[in-house]
Amino acid sequence: MKFFIDTANLDQIREAQDLGVLDGVTTNPSLMAKEGITGRNNILKHYVDICNIVDGDVSAEVIATDLKGMIKEGEELAELHEQIVVKIPMIKEGIKAIKYFSDHGIRTNCTLVFSAGQALLAAKAGATYVSPFIGRLDDISTDGLNLISEIRLIYDNYGFDTQILAASIRHTMHVLECAKIGSDVMTGPLSSIEGLLKHPLTDMGLAKFLEDYKKGN
Ligand code: G3P
Repeated sequence: MKFFIDTANLDQIREAQDLGVLDGVTTNPSLMAKEGITGRNNILKHYVDICNIVDGDVSAEVIATDLKGMIKEGEELAELHEQIVVKIPMIKEGIKAIKYFSDHGIRTNCTLVFSAGQALLAAKAGATYVSPFIGRLDDISTDGLNLISEIRLIYDNYGFDTQILAASIRHTMHVLECAKIGSDVMTGPLSSIEGLLKHPLTDMGLAKFLEDYKKGN
């Protein structure tokens, strides 16, 4: 299972990278705005900065919603760095853009996916990644994890290469459940990765080991 961090915050990206388990980064326009990164040139530079910190794939989202605009922007993003994956929204023109990029060897991440049907279409169009937003489904009292199971079943039935990138992860249990289901990737905040470390018995056990060592030395 690949671990991506879902942020545009360079400090958090560095921290996750330093942990040694980071496989990539996802961003979106809201995450960029949260870091105060505005203006096309600053945004493009920020993507390059992120690529220079991590070894893996970095999703960069298009803003255009028409096919011509998405192709123009996506090609510009893909040119920035070999690690860039072009993030395309799950809309009709987006499916056409994913197909175009797939035919032209440019990797894509189909974002804002909330149903198995959408995920099936994205795979048919040749998306590299599909991003079901599980947290946002949970937010509206729908089972986000069930969507991951449905997509896993469909992709396995037909051997689709599209990787399931469980997005809108909110906590460690989402990560664990996605791992059990067989999601290829998860993207979440740093806390959802670092939370996996924690267990009170580990802390208590370590404290006792150190205490006992001190007694004999
Ligand atoms: O990767 C998708 C993500 O950015 C959405 O997360 O927490 O805004 O639902 P959230």
